Amino acid sequence: MRTTLPPEVIILREFLAGDDRYVSGNRLAERLDISRVAVWSHMEKLRSAGFVFEARPRLGYRLEAIPSGLSALYLQASLPDAWSHVPIHFHETIDSTNREAERLLASGASAPFVVLARQQTEGRGRLGRSWFSGDSGNLYLSFVFQPRLPPRRMQTFTLWMGAILCDFLNGLRNAPVRVKWPNDLLLHGGKIGGMLTEARIDHDRIRDLVFGLGLNVNGDTASYPPELVRTATSLAAETGEKLELNSFAADLLQAILDAYRDFTEGVPERRFRQLWSRYDTLVGRTITVRQGNETLSGIAEGIDDEGRLILRTADGTRRPVSAGDVTLRKD
Ligand code: BTN
Repeated sequence: MRTTLPPEVIILREFLAGDDRYVSGNRLAERLDISRVAVWSHMEKLRSAGFVFEARPRLGYRLEAIPSGLSALYLQASLPDAWSHVPIHFHETIDSTNREAERLLASGASAPFVVLARQQTEGRGRLGRSWFSGDSGNLYLSFVFQPRLPPRRMQTFTLWMGAILCDFLNGLRNAPVRVKWPNDLLLHGGKIGGMLTEARIDHDRIRDLVFGLGLNVNGDTASYPPELVRTATSLAAETGEKLELNSFAADLLQAILDAYRDFTEGVPERRFRQLWSRYDTLVGRTITVRQGNETLSGIAEGIDDEGRLILRTADGTRRPVSAGDVTLRKD
């Protein structure tokens, strides 16, 4: 269902459509079919949300600066045409964006939509763990989709998203990000991100799917709890450069939405395998996998068609592992 975008978002889209361009008040009034006075009041709202405009007689307005903190208006306006109507539900603080996504679904919200928070009080991790989610310039996001696909098609979904996220993050300077099966994003061996996919299934169809992503972007590792200091890091801590959070998040949202579209349209097996093996941090390394009460050790040999991790144990047996917690032996 198409919803009408708020006037502030439509106005921002006009400014973002071209670089450094002046947009006249008349044009905005025509575009929104409102009076010049009404345009002025929407511009004031944008100003109070942290946007800075230069106003020039006869030329109109030019967008000079965007807010330094995460801006839902900016992100909504930055979505490309194909995704511009995907609602972004923004929260300063929420228990968990995945949980909020479930609440919205339960109240009848239709997918796709995105939930984004500046911080979470009960961020959820995989295997019942918690996800540290302080307000430190990191991103906490949940994407909600209704893929109408048979559940077996989703076996490789999180792996595909992990490979795409690596590809996206490798586009940044000095960020050779790798994926650790099944859901960790690593940079220089430290964890910078985690994915948590939660789906509701109606016998042979996926009813809805929540793809949660926690990404440590500008986080100062000194603020992390002591138990994470050894394992977790952030993009900024590793690259030495803070990222402009709004434009980074806008590109990230697009990359994830496009990756979802490609996945549902059917990603060629070869493309998936190529990407996965380019960024797989485990392949060829000695690892230990904890699966319930069982602990297995061996050499990682990539993944199979169902997205299972292939482990070659000391006796030469090839063991596919469908879930578990992997530790790498320090070489
Ligand atoms: C993991 O590595 O264990 C997965 C962590 C996933 C964390 C994200 S943060 C946004 C979304 N909301 C949550 O409560 N969890 C996911």
